[in-house]
Parts: sequence; structure tokens; C-alpha cells
Amino acid sequence: MAAISVIPGDGIGPEVVESALGLVDAFGLGLDVDVLDHVGADRYRREGVALGEADLARVAASGAVLLGAIGRPDLEHTGYVRDVLLELRYAFDLYANYRPVRLWHDRLSPLRDPARRALDCVIVRENTEGLYSGIGGNLRASSDHEVAVDADVNTRHGVSRILDFAFATARREVCLVDKANAVRAGGRLWQECWRRAAERHPGAATRHLYVDAAAMKLVTEPERFDVIVASNSHGDILSDLAAALAGGIGLAPSASLNPESGFGMFEPVHGSAPDIAGRGVANPFACLLTAALLLRHLGHDTEAAATEAAVAGSIAAGRTTPDLGGTLSTREATRAVLAAL
Ligand code: NAI
Ligand code: MG
Repeated sequence: MAAISVIPGDGIGPEVVESALGLVDAFGLGLDVDVLDHVGADRYRREGVALGEADLARVAASGAVLLGAIGRPDLEHTGYVRDVLLELRYAFDLYANYRPVRLWHDRLSPLRDPARRALDCVIVRENTEGLYSGIGGNLRASSDHEVAVDADVNTRHGVSRILDFAFATARREVCLVDKANAVRAGGRLWQECWRRAAERHPGAATRHLYVDAAAMKLVTEPERFDVIVASNSHGDILSDLAAALAGGIGLAPSASLNPESGFGMFEPVHGSAPDIAGRGVANPFACLLTAALLLRHLGHDTEAAATEAAVAGSIAAGRTTPDLGGTLSTREATRAVLAAL
């Protein structure tokens, strides 16, 4: 059984995954790695399927999966990205999407006020239901009277378990973000499950914000947040906002977890970035910080912390790719981190 299965994917996916595999290799932990190079856009074009049963079996036989990015402009409206990413989330019931946001260096923040700079929070995004459930359709399509409906699916089971995960993750406070004042049925269910979850976990402080206010407060007082828990769509949007506050999408890692089975999928928050793919300038730090989450998940805490410190050190020394103001290529930035280890 391989310790890690790897899906490099498309665009800058293989470029940043190469960095992460170099990192894992450098630790000499003897982790067995199973790379599924063929899962990607070319195969989807040829066969109409990118991730087959045999691939899922290989992923299932590993301890965790590292994914680069999925997506190519010519397949944008085919359902390709959905097929691969949702297939993985559903196959392993990866309901908890864990997205830490940390300001690695003052210089990277658009916030210049020193008091605002202690940004270090985690966004816990429900990953298997909500507005992205795919239930819905178009009535009288392409006519002047077309009706489009997407169902916002919220189950008591799904909401309760993501709230429990958020409380288990919290260091000091859990902040529920919803729009219960406007989205009433789902809002009612989230609010009721929230009260019960808070009773089950009396240790952490609680706070509730509507999503619009949360977006504002993430900008005006980001240092106040610890764990933010939100539905699939709200978590998606807030995590890009938070990532931008902390220096950009080139630094944002993520894990999709099933806390009961212990299986996880680890991927940078960014996509395949077709605008810069193939130029060797993709920032590998998001994927290296993702590898750190993966190493911690596998019990290698020391290596994870060392990776995070080495990334912070490279940023402080200005040894970064152009998106963070440096001049290094993907490989040079990776070498800077490995050298700092
Ligand atoms: P994107 O994240 O690929 O790119 C957004 C912007 O950020 C671009 O300007 C890109 O150059 C920049 N960027 C992203 N990663 C970077 C990195 N490591 N270093 C430096 N700059 C970086 O999002 P976009 O353009 O909306 O989507 C592109 C493709 O990726 C689409 O096919 C989309 O469906 C797919 N996608 C896949 C995801 C995944 O595999 N989990 C997540 C998001 C999008
Ligand atoms: Mg997103």
C-alpha cells in the first residue's frame, strides 16, 4: 500500500506537485508514492472519463492523496472539473474542507496597520452538499421564459458533522457564517444544529456572523478570527478572500478530510492557472504548505513544522516567485525552501 497517491493533473498542477514531491523526498521518510500521471484533461478528451474505477481503487489503497489542479480552458463547460473533484470528495466522503490562512510575512498583506497583522485562522468549509450539490435544472431552456434552479441542499447529518469538526479544530473560538436571515429553511437548520453543537463543545467561544458582515470583518479585523465554519459556497468565497489578505492564492493550502475514516485529499486552493502554465513561474509554496498539512496528517509533525518554517524563511529573504515580488522560478523557489530545511 502506497503511503501517498498523487494526481498531478493539469496546467501548473504537475509543476507545483513536482516541488512537493521533491520536499517529501528530501525528508527521506521512505514514503511510498503512487503517481497517477494519466488522470487529466487529455484522457478526458479521448475517453470521456478522466478518473476511472481502477484509479479510484489505487487512490483508495493509499493513505492520502495529493492533488495538483484540475482544469483546462477547452473543457471549461463540460463538467470535467466537477467530475474529477466531486468524484474524489464523494467517493471518500471528504466532507470537511480544511483551509488554513496565515500571514507568513508582513510585506505580503494588503493591510499595513501592524495591529491587523496577526492573521492566523482556519476556514472549515462544508464540502459535500449546499449550493454545489448539482441538484437542479433549467426549465424552458434557451427560451425567453427560461427558469434556472439550483437547490441548496442542507442535511441535519451533514451540518452537524461539519460543526463538530469545526469545534474539534478550534483553538479559542468558532465563528458560524451563514445567511440565515435571508435563506430561511437552510438557515433554520444550521442555527438549530449550531446551538446543539455549541452545547456538545462547551470549551470554545462562539460567534455568529452573516456572510456579508463576515466578508467585511475579515478585511477590517482579520486577527479576531480563529475557526470560521460555513456552507460549501460561503466557505469557497470567504477562503479566497482570506487567502488574498494573506498574500495571495499562491500561498493557500487545503485539505479535504473525512475525520472518521482518516482519509484525506490534499490540494492547493488554486486551480491549474492556464495563463501562466508551462512558463515555470507558478508559486510552489501553496503546494509545499499543502504537503506540510499532508505530512502532519501522516504523523510527521516535525517535518511539517520544518517545511512551514522554511517557507516563511524563504519569504522573509525575498526568495519567491514573481507573484510574491521575487524573481525565482518554480524550481528555484522550491530549492530555496529545501536549502533552508
Ligand atoms: P486559478 O487558481 O487557476 O488562477 C487564478 C489566478 O491566480 C490566475 O491569474 C493564476 O495565474 C493565478 N495563480 C494561481 N495559482 C498560482 C500559483 N501557484 N502561482 C502564481 N499564480 C497563481 O483559477 P481559475 O483561473 O479560475 O481557473 C483555472 C482552471 O482551474 C479552470 O479550469 C478551473 O475550473 C480550474 N480550477 C481547479 C481547481 C482545483 O483543481 N481544485 C480549483 C480552482 C479552479
Ligand atoms: Mg474556489
